[in-house]
Amino acid sequence: NESIKVSSDSRDIVQTLRDNDKNYLVLYGSQTGTAEDYAKKFAKELSAKFSLKVMCADIENYDMQNLNELPANVVVSIFLSTYGEGDFPDGAIPFEDFLTGLSSGDLENVRYTLFGLGNSTYEFFNGASKKAQKYLSEAGATLVGKSGEADDGAGTTDEDYMTWKDALMALLKSELGLDEHEQKFEPNFQYSVMETDETDNSVSLGEPTVQYLPGQKLPFSPDGRQTGPFDSTHPYVAPIVKSRELFKSNGRNCIHADFDLSGSNLKYSTGDHLAVWPSNSNEKVEKFLNCFGLDPKVVFSLRPLDPTIKNPFPLPTTIGATVRHYLEITGPLSRQFFGSIMQFAPNAELKERLNELSNDRDEFAKEITVKYLNLADALLYLSNGAKWTSVPWNFLVESIPHMQPRYYSISSSSLTEKQTISITAIVENMLNPTSEKAEPVTGVATNLLRHIQLSQNKESAENLPLPVHYDLSGPRGLFKSHKLPVHVRRSTFRLPSNPATPVIMIGPGTGVAPFRGFIRDRVKFAEQQPNVSLGKHLLFYGSRDQNDFLYQEEWPEYSKKLGGVFEMVVAHSRLPNKPKTYVQDKLLEKEEELFKLCATQGAFIYVCGDAKGMAQGVHAALVTILSRGKQIKESEAAEMLKMLKSSGRYQEDVW
Ligand code: 2AM
Repeated sequence: NESIKVSSDSRDIVQTLRDNDKNYLVLYGSQTGTAEDYAKKFAKELSAKFSLKVMCADIENYDMQNLNELPANVVVSIFLSTYGEGDFPDGAIPFEDFLTGLSSGDLENVRYTLFGLGNSTYEFFNGASKKAQKYLSEAGATLVGKSGEADDGAGTTDEDYMTWKDALMALLKSELGLDEHEQKFEPNFQYSVMETDETDNSVSLGEPTVQYLPGQKLPFSPDGRQTGPFDSTHPYVAPIVKSRELFKSNGRNCIHADFDLSGSNLKYSTGDHLAVWPSNSNEKVEKFLNCFGLDPKVVFSLRPLDPTIKNPFPLPTTIGATVRHYLEITGPLSRQFFGSIMQFAPNAELKERLNELSNDRDEFAKEITVKYLNLADALLYLSNGAKWTSVPWNFLVESIPHMQPRYYSISSSSLTEKQTISITAIVENMLNPTSEKAEPVTGVATNLLRHIQLSQNKESAENLPLPVHYDLSGPRGLFKSHKLPVHVRRSTFRLPSNPATPVIMIGPGTGVAPFRGFIRDRVKFAEQQPNVSLGKHLLFYGSRDQNDFLYQEEWPEYSKKLGGVFEMVVAHSRLPNKPKTYVQDKLLEKEEELFKLCATQGAFIYVCGDAKGMAQGVHAALVTILSRGKQIKESEAAEMLKMLKSSGRYQEDVW
C-alpha cells in the first residue's frame, strides 16, 4: 500500500501519531501480555465500530515528553497492569518516572481513559494504575469516564473489561460525536500467500524470536547455532540436560527439569524465574486447523498497513508453524471475541447465536466458561461439528492472543549451580468437569515438559493419560535432543544479605521451589565460610501426604550440613484418618517462636505458591500472631505487615 507514510524513527509519541495520521491513541504497559491483549482488542474495536484511526503502542517504545501537545480531539486510552508489590511493569518504569517528574498543569490538555489489570489477592491491588491516575490528575489531565480495574484474583478480568468498555465506548461515542456501525474487521496487515514451501530457508517454521524486525535474518543458522544476547525478546533454546518425575500419584505428576545455560552467557540469581516458551500439542493444532479448514503447509507473509505496527512474529512463515508456535489456541475465550468473530459465522443462525452469547454474560458463562471450552471446541460445539471455513486466516492471526512464555520459580541455587537452572512443575491436567467425553483441560507447557521427561527417560509417550503429544523436534529440528526456548526474569525474591538474619519460608506444594534454591545457597555459603554464623532458617512446607512430599530425600542432607539453624515444619492435608493440616496451622503452632523471630530479631518472611487460598491463609495467621504477640488490634497488625512488605521484609512469589 503505497499511500502509507513511513514514520520517522521518532520515539516522540505525538510526532509519531501525527506522522501517521492517527486520531486516537492507545498505550499499554504490560508485564505478561494481558494488558497488551486488552489494549489491542480495544483498539481493534474502536476502529471496527467507529472507523477511528487508532495508534496502539507499547508505552516502552515511546517518549511521552510532548504528551501535552496531542491534537485537541485525540483521547489517549491507557492499559496498565500491576506487577509485584503494586509496581509498574518493567517496560513502563520510564513512564512512571515521567509521571512522577510532572508539575501541576503539565498535562492540562490531555484527556485520557484508564484500565488497570490487577489481582485482588495481592496487597497492592491495581497499585500501578492507581498511582498512574493520581499522577495524571495531579498534572491536570482529565479522566474520561471512570477508570476500570480488572481483578484476576476474582477471575473476572474479562467481565470487568466488558463492563468498563461498554460504558466507555458509549461515552466516547457521544463525546467525540462518532458514528457507530456494525463491527467490520479492519486488518492491521496486508496478508499474502506466497509461492514457496517449507524447504525454503527464508521461511520461518517457528524459530523463537519475538520482536522480529523486518529484514532481520532468522536468528538461527541452518545448523542451529544461536547468536545472543538472549533476553525476553530473543529466548535461548536451552538443552534440558536432565528431567525426572518427582512424584506420581492419583493421576498427578510433578516434573523436575534441569536446563543447561552454558555457552549462552545467561545469568540468574537464586529466587529468579525461568520463562519457558511452549508450543501447542499435536492434538490441539490438528483440531484447530480442522475447525477452520486450514492447510498447515501454506506459506504466507504479513505487511503492516501502518508503520506504527510491528510484525508479530518472523515472516514469512507457514500456517502450521503459526498455529503451533505463535498462537495461544487453548486460552480462555471472551465474549468480546465472539462479538468480533460473529461477522464470519457460516450461517445467519450461528451469527445470531454468537451475538447472543457475546451480549449475555450468564449465558456465556454457562455455555462456554464453565465447560473450559477452547476456541475450536467451542465453535465446533456451537455448529454441531460443522467447520468454520469462512473465518479468514488473517482475522485469526490478528484476533487470537499470541503465545506467551510460562514463568516458573527457579528451584536451583546460582551459588551451587551457575550453569544450570532447575524448575519444579506440577503437570496440569483435568478431565473436563462437564463431561468425561469432552476434551480434557491440559496445561500447554507442563504437558510439554512431561512429554520431554518421558522421552528423555525412554518411556513411551503412549502412556500419557491424556491425549497430549508434542512435536519434540521443533522447527528445523531445533528442539531435537530435548531443548526449549527460555529466558530469565529477574525477581526481587532474595535472601537477606546478612546471613545472621533469621529467615521464615512458607511454601507448600511447588511453592517450595525457590526455598530449595535458598537452602542450597545457604549450604554453599556455610561450606565456604564455616566461621560465619547463620540465623535461624525455618521452612514451612505442605503436601497432601508422603507421596507428593517434594525433594523428600534432600532435606535431611541440608539439615545435616546446616546443623540446628535449618528446621523444616511439614503439614499434610490428606493423611487417612487425620485432620487436614495446612502450613498456616503449623505457623500458629509455632506462634511464640515466630513472634520472637519477627518482633525482636528482624526475621525476613517469604511466601511462595498459591495466591488465593494459601497466601491469604498465611497472611491471616501472621496477623493473628502479630496482634496477639504485640497485644494490638488485628487491623494494626495488618498495617504492620503492609509496612514489612513495603520494606521487603515480607515477600511473596505467588500465582
Ligand atoms: P489440599 O489437600 O487441600 O489440596 C500443596 O498443594 C498443599 O497445599 C496441599 O497439601 C494442599 O492441600 C495445600 N493447600 C490447599 N489449599 C490451601 C490453602 N488455602 N492454604 C494452605 N494450604 C493449602
